[in-house]
Amino acid sequence: MSGDQSRRRVGIVGYGHLGQYLVQRLQDEGPRHGLELAFVWNRDADKLKGTVPAELQLGKLADFLERCADIIIEVAHPCIAQTHGESFLKAADFMVGSPTALADSKTEQKLREVAQRSGHTLYIPSGALWGGQDIQRMDEGGLLQALTVTMAKHPNSFRLGGHLGELAQRAWQGRAVLYDGPVRGLCPLAPNNVNTMAAACLAAPSLGFDGVKGCLIADPNLPDYHVVEVEATGPGGFSVRTRRKNPAACGAVTGAATFAAFWSSLLVCQGHGGRVYLC
Ligand SMILES: NC(=O)c1ccc[n+]([C@@H]2O[C@H](COP(=O)([O-])OP(=O)(O)OC[C@H]3O[C@@H](n4cnc5c(N)ncnc54)[C@H](O)[C@@H]3O)[C@@H](O)[C@H]2O)c1
Repeated sequence: MSGDQSRRRVGIVGYGHLGQYLVQRLQDEGPRHGLELAFVWNRDADKLKGTVPAELQLGKLADFLERCADIIIEVAHPCIAQTHGESFLKAADFMVGSPTALADSKTEQKLREVAQRSGHTLYIPSGALWGGQDIQRMDEGGLLQALTVTMAKHPNSFRLGGHLGELAQRAWQGRAVLYDGPVRGLCPLAPNNVNTMAAACLAAPSLGFDGVKGCLIADPNLPDYHVVEVEATGPGGFSVRTRRKNPAACGAVTGAATFAAFWSSLLVCQGHGGRVYLC
């Protein structure tokens, strides 16, 4: 544990756009919020040199226990939650920044079980999802009948291979639907682009990855923002539809507001017991 027992120690896994943003804010404002950096790990360790103090750099991810983190945040790749999520959760709260990892049902089941057994919280950042807490409450009350998340971005803002990549390339002429169906099938095809949909599935476990619908659209008329629409329906004709415009630099995969949303999510992570918690 740290010298100051009241501070929560934060481990950051991944030092790309989100990782660098979170490290900077932790260094600038962490102490004010009762937070301090425990470690930073990146697949390419050279990227940390000169920017992260040497004593905070973690050489081997398997050595994370030595740093006694209270919360570990993955902002690298979905494969991290799949390979290390279980050991993280046994030791600390775990915020999975790439929740598309949980579209793999074995990973979701395993992490839910470990959270329950260990008493640590598996945090899912809301990201660009609007109304996540309301969706969660409807789901808990057994009132959520259907949920659809539609995401539209400029063709340049996708990181896609295979068939979807080809469809996105052809969308230069006009709006094209790349996928329309259960989110489960979409996550492995677009793991970096549909974290918001995955967060919706985790907020609504009664529907889950098979029941929540995802629609992914490439639209050349959206050069500087992404659009996220959420439609929830319930009994007796109840329905809510939200439309979020998320400003994004041309070609950026992550909208600008999502960075600040991650920081706000981290501030929520004070330990909510052995469960999955949208933050
Ligand atoms: N939850 C959300 O709403 C949301 C929003 C944006 C991004 N994300 C996800 O967060 C993660 C980080 O996003 P970013 O914008 O910082 O990405 P980025 O590409 O800027 O950075 C990713 C970092 O992880 C490392 N990395 C890449 N593949 C890896 C692998 N297989 N194993 C270990 N390390 C690997 C890279 O070296 C890089 O340092 C991505 O998985 C992205 O999909 C989630």
